[in-house]
Amino acid sequence: MTAAPRPEAKDSLLDRIAGWADDRLKLAEGSRKYLRKAFPGHWSFLIGEIAMFALIILLLTGTFLALFYTPDTTPVVYSGPYVPLQGTEISAAYNSVLELSFEVRAGLLFRQIHHWAALVFVAAIVVHMLRIFFTGAFRRPRELNWVVGGILLLLAFGAGFTGYSLPDDLLSGTGLRIGYSALLSVPFVGPLLGYLGIGGEYPGVGVLGRLHILHVMIIPAGLLGLLGAHLFMVVRQKHTQKRTRRAREDNVVGEPLWPNQALTMTSLFFAVAAVLAFLGGVFEINPVWLYGPYEPFEVFAPSQPDWYMGWLEGLLRLWPAWEFTILGVTIPAIFIPSVVVPGILFGIVFAWPWIDARWITGDHAEHHINQRPRDVPARTAFGFAGLTFLLVIFVAGSNDVMAAALQTPLDTLTTVLRWAAIVLPVLAGLAAYRIAERLNQPVEAAPSSTVPAAKST
Ligand code: HEM
Repeated sequence: MTAAPRPEAKDSLLDRIAGWADDRLKLAEGSRKYLRKAFPGHWSFLIGEIAMFALIILLLTGTFLALFYTPDTTPVVYSGPYVPLQGTEISAAYNSVLELSFEVRAGLLFRQIHHWAALVFVAAIVVHMLRIFFTGAFRRPRELNWVVGGILLLLAFGAGFTGYSLPDDLLSGTGLRIGYSALLSVPFVGPLLGYLGIGGEYPGVGVLGRLHILHVMIIPAGLLGLLGAHLFMVVRQKHTQKRTRRAREDNVVGEPLWPNQALTMTSLFFAVAAVLAFLGGVFEINPVWLYGPYEPFEVFAPSQPDWYMGWLEGLLRLWPAWEFTILGVTIPAIFIPSVVVPGILFGIVFAWPWIDARWITGDHAEHHINQRPRDVPARTAFGFAGLTFLLVIFVAGSNDVMAAALQTPLDTLTTVLRWAAIVLPVLAGLAAYRIAERLNQPVEAAPSSTVPAAKST
């Protein structure tokens, strides 16, 4: 007695849609290849994703804020619920931010999530970059991806500065003034750059409109375009991997994109979103109603920018008031710390893959296996010297707060920090070099005790 043949399983709706799409787009072949793509598994390889997810949350919350924000300096009289400012003449922009904070449902929450996401975004980029620097993941063939990354970092700074300046409060106005002074200080073309930057005489009526277009359109387009190129290169060049028993220069040992890496990334996205929502919901940030509206003749003290601008603030505070003249043109003291030194620092960052190959390792070969910091003591020494320099100037960005807290004259503290910015990086570099060298030395086997144990009497 033969069993009745089992009826054919009918294709599910999903199968039929996928079949229809594949007939027309031939997706199966490519997606099968990419869905099986191996992603080397190490927590440090997820830091780039954290930056990416913070960017996504910035775009989502930023879109919400843009629906309510007005980039307009026209004066209005505040009549909203915040009593201390009622009857005060403020700009329409500042008024729209107060409305967002006190009158738009979830407005303050989105403002805070957006601001925290900006701080986390830049922090993730910096840690991501350090991971790549100290493991040599910028080496051939990834030099171009390193440069693209560097531009992404610059754009992230630009997004932070333009976004930070939009509320038109007294603190952000102070920052904008410093930015304007830096533009003005550029020899020969400074006044033109200043005029173009703010659209007229300072403080300018069109400045917020320009900052707004930069912040909501030009910079995000640049970030998304370059990030696309960045990730395309990661896929094309495959990801570097840690040195393991199975890892070779010609293979990739890791988890497949589907389902493993995809699930890891999805849960990471929601974890990043949850942390940012928690920060935005619990920890107050950038309470512009306390700073008051921007007035060019007022300065807010102590005033510190967001952390990722602290190094620049510190450079400005440490640099002596040296002015000099070239071809009859006076170069203001602010030019070197605000334009030249950052230019040199970013120049070194962009050129680093070539500096490293040419002067540090002499190695121009292609590499897909990560190094350990101890493997290249000179690179590690440079890295730590650079980090220490950035840390000292970052601390100097709050020299007024520290002087008050330590009850020390500001000039004394500034002199100490100037010397620290010169001496400490050298010491940190030398120490890192020594430690890396030490870690590289083969561990001598413990001398086996050849003396026969004394016979117990
Ligand atoms: C918006 C900012 C950035 C985002 C969203 C981002 C995202 C990513 C992601 C998701 C990866 C693959 C996973 C990983 O290694 O973490 C990656 C790899 C890479 N990134 Fe970035 N990145 C950013 C900025 C940077 C910066 C500032 C640099 C260096 C200056 C950089 C250099 C690289 C390099 C060289 C790789 C390949 C690493 C490897 O194969 O091990 N990225 N990036």
